[in-house]
Amino acid sequence: MLLGGCFWAAGSKLHFSLKLQLQAYFLVHDDIMDGSHTRRGQPCWFRLPKVGLIALNDGIILRNHVARILKKHFREKPYYVDLIDLFNEVEFQTASGQMIDLITTLEGEKDLSKYSLQLHRRIVQYKTAYYSFYLPVACALLMAGENLDYHVDVKNVLIDMGIYFQLQDDYLDCFGDPEKIGKIGTDIEDFKCSWLVVKALEHCNEEQKKILFEHYGKADAADVAKVKELYNHIDLKGVFADYEDKIYERLTSSIEAHPSTALQAVLKSFLGKIYKRQK
Ligand code: IPE
Ligand code: MN
Ligand code: MN
Repeated sequence: MLLGGCFWAAGSKLHFSLKLQLQAYFLVHDDIMDGSHTRRGQPCWFRLPKVGLIALNDGIILRNHVARILKKHFREKPYYVDLIDLFNEVEFQTASGQMIDLITTLEGEKDLSKYSLQLHRRIVQYKTAYYSFYLPVACALLMAGENLDYHVDVKNVLIDMGIYFQLQDDYLDCFGDPEKIGKIGTDIEDFKCSWLVVKALEHCNEEQKKILFEHYGKADAADVAKVKELYNHIDLKGVFADYEDKIYERLTSSIEAHPSTALQAVLKSFLGKIYKRQK
């Protein structure tokens, strides 16, 4: 096994710039679909008067550059086809996650009673976990000459880590500091199947449930405030803090069960970077 090589590759910059390239494209389109206002502390790209829906084409150009960068650097490599295939597959998975994320919020089909942890998990596994956690490491493995079929256990840990990462994103959308996260949350207005609303449904009594059904998914600031007030009432922050600790412990033990110490180090450094993140 060329795990030494993998360790090097997982830390090298090219995978991450390729991942960020793909992410840039997803986020430019995501902000249009989510009706978001800011990203990385600035107006979303499509919000610029000169850009508008031209941002759709800019997103496509960003995506095209993934293939162009791959070609420029790896055309002669034996793993070239596998890399292209990996990016195509991960793009498909992400777009599928976005699709489920979006169709659950359709006007006329808004129904909180269909929101569950299971649905939430399916959405975030597809829209976030594959591209943000599995993809960079899978690239590194391919470049080290590995066959991805033999690394299903690593993949599973990375998917779980990606799910945890999106759970934090859901939390920060409501409770994060916009100055730090660089964006203003829209999940409540957008009727998103966020981890918070799923957990709220679990912890609400019948009366509180009524409030949630009445105010969730409305654009008005007063409705959003009602939902946030309810979240505070049932101490969702505390629920999240406990959950985060449990996930951290579970992920740590699945990492430690892995036979390769080199891969353990990579996975632990990822986990260390996101645990209790504020941005
Ligand atoms: C976006 O999910 C996932 C992708 C871009 C594929 P969100 O819509 O929850 O992410 P933010 O909060 O806008 O960054
Ligand atoms: Mn979004
Ligand atoms: Mn989105």
